[in-house]
Amino acid sequence: MRTGIMGGTGFYSIFDDPEIIRMETPYGQVDVHRAKVGASEVFFLPRHDKDHRLPPHRINYRANVCALSLCRTDRIVAVNTVGSMNRGIPVGDLVVPHDFIDLTLPAPTFHDDGAFHVDMSDPLCPEIRAALISSASASHGKAHVHDGVYAATHGPRLETPAEIRMLSAHADVVGMTMAPECILAREKGICYASLCLVANMAAGLQKKLSAREITSNMSYFRDSAGKMILDAVKAIPADRNCGCRDAFLNARL
Ligand code: HPA
Repeated sequence: MRTGIMGGTGFYSIFDDPEIIRMETPYGQVDVHRAKVGASEVFFLPRHDKDHRLPPHRINYRANVCALSLCRTDRIVAVNTVGSMNRGIPVGDLVVPHDFIDLTLPAPTFHDDGAFHVDMSDPLCPEIRAALISSASASHGKAHVHDGVYAATHGPRLETPAEIRMLSAHADVVGMTMAPECILAREKGICYASLCLVANMAAGLQKKLSAREITSNMSYFRDSAGKMILDAVKAIPADRNCGCRDAFLNARL
């Protein structure tokens, strides 16, 4: 079994002594950290690169997902930092989204030419979600683990209160990175799900919002995030019994 892990804000490494592999993709070069976890070969990729060098709108999503595909991973477990738009989901809680709204640009796709319309009826892999929900519920003290809808904004700016009022009618958390990655993984036939770490209440739901506060609130998860992710990787069943692969097989017109 080969599994990819996509690390987010505050999450730039996960293994003590990984082998670093430089992957050449048609979209650019990517360094992937390889290590063994249980029976799995695991490939970790920090999406913002070392020291958070890349803001969300400059992440090379296609190179990242393509690199994990070239490593022959068939699952990606992601970690994403989010703001909560739902007063029932406070800072410090965890969300394993079951659906999303994508407002990012440009359209995330590997298929700029030709008609390729990947099915997104069940966008987040139910098998990875189940593994994440059980590892997060077991590991994270008093914090709650929620289902939810993720709204992806383009960034890099944070949202206005009016944007959050509009989005909160249809979604629970807001971030900038999960949706493009999930769509591209699906186009490659790779299962994808995310553990979202709630670092702030979204604009208008708390007095002021600063990037510094978001990153400093990541300390809530510093001790638990790596363990939750690696436990989830170990809990994913070896054989894929979800429908994620079919979405990709039936996409071409
Ligand atoms: N908005 C968008 N992205 C985010 C936020 C937010 O409030 N918090 C963490 N990532």
